[in-house]
Amino acid sequence: MNAVQPSIDELVRARVGATWAFRTRAEIEATARFARMAIELQENGATPFVVTGAHDAAADEARHRDLCARVAAKWGHPNALDHTPPRTRIGRSDMDPRDRLLWEMVSVCCIGETMNTALMTRSLEVARDEEIRTTLHELLRDEVVHARLGWAHLAAERSQGRGEFLRDVLPLLLEASVEPGFLEGKDIAVWSDALYPYGELPWPELVQIYRDTMNLVVFAGFDAVGVDTSKGRAWLEERSPA
Ligand SMILES: [Fe+2]
Ligand SMILES: [Fe+2]
Repeated sequence: MNAVQPSIDELVRARVGATWAFRTRAEIEATARFARMAIELQENGATPFVVTGAHDAAADEARHRDLCARVAAKWGHPNALDHTPPRTRIGRSDMDPRDRLLWEMVSVCCIGETMNTALMTRSLEVARDEEIRTTLHELLRDEVVHARLGWAHLAAERSQGRGEFLRDVLPLLLEASVEPGFLEGKDIAVWSDALYPYGELPWPELVQIYRDTMNLVVFAGFDAVGVDTSKGRAWLEERSPA
């Protein structure tokens, strides 16, 4: 065996383990975030549907955390649960708290959960590993609902004439939705088709899903509630021309 190049088995194990450890950390953060947002949503006049939905989402994410940790442990990351969510908040500290909460709901649900749903849908199409399929299926079922919460909250705020500021901060929201350099193809992970059966996707496909979901679902959703997407669309075209 070559000392520098990992074997396919090593590559698969490293990549799958890293994916599920990353997901475990993301679910830990999502659990804390939804629990806090549920309280803030109630304090800021959100609809009962959204407040209850955020409470339920916190419980969903705690369940996801444990499901993801189980897969991570099987693939070589037994300590994925050892993660403390950062205390940093999304948005600007000088903002009206209600606007800041809307920024956060849009970032987390309308963009984050929508994007996650699209990625996991494609992962589920290619995955053949039974445990990964079952886990993806369960996560997906809930993330679809979490995405809807964001759209419901945004629609409710727009109906009260709020959220105009989103037009100007859309590029910041998009910037935060990807790892630095992701769209430009910096640090592309080594790929092998042997990764598909574990639900992994190659970089060009990830970018395509990001672009398509942003254009066909996210921007379309903003358009539907009268949030001007021109700055957001320009941001995407600049970084990832069609
Ligand atoms: Fe989740
Ligand atoms: Fe979620």
